[in-house]
Amino acid sequence: MLFATANQHKVDEVQRLLGAAFEVVTPAQTGYADDIPETGDTLEQNARQKARFIFEKFGQPCFADDTGLEIDALNGAPGVYSARYAGDEKDSVANMQLVLQKLHGVTNRAARFRCVIVLILDGREYAFEGRVEGEILTELHGTQGFGYDPIFRPDGYPCTFAEMPVEEKNRLSHRGKAVEQLVKFLGNYA
Ligand code: IMP
Repeated sequence: MLFATANQHKVDEVQRLLGAAFEVVTPAQTGYADDIPETGDTLEQNARQKARFIFEKFGQPCFADDTGLEIDALNGAPGVYSARYAGDEKDSVANMQLVLQKLHGVTNRAARFRCVIVLILDGREYAFEGRVEGEILTELHGTQGFGYDPIFRPDGYPCTFAEMPVEEKNRLSHRGKAVEQLVKFLGNYA
């Protein structure tokens, strides 16, 4: 099953969740070296665009995901622009610093990660969504994970994503939930 991404973190995470039943392969592993276009205004549009692009190139079952951190006090930003919030360098620390700066003195810290997966199988498209609610802390905590993990504390937990073992984060994360639905769907697919 082709996964339209260049992010090895995600491939590892998704492969762990999918288990041995499906081998996840990236376009790069099949020799495709160019970028996958991602120009939509929403997570749904981006996931669909990436999945369609790879399906048109390879003609094989594939899926793509798109994820964003949505902060209520910032009207849903950084959202679809999460990777490049502080600039094209995709610098996680700079992104987090920008968030903390914008939320300085703001009491409503509610936020969520939302992940959308679009699967193309037998010529049909299916969409799955996972989300995890939480809050943005006032400083960085922890070193595990990636992206905004050190400033995001999921509801019901005393620590950030970056302070959890990776398996625990994967179980409760937005991508974990979206992949769980994908796995369930594939398991039932006759
Ligand atoms: P993508 O478009 O799915 O690659 O995700 C966009 C950006 O959202 C990433 O570059 C990260 O900054 C952030 N992001 C996505 N998933 C996570 C996560 O699990 N933890 C922290 N940040 C994430």
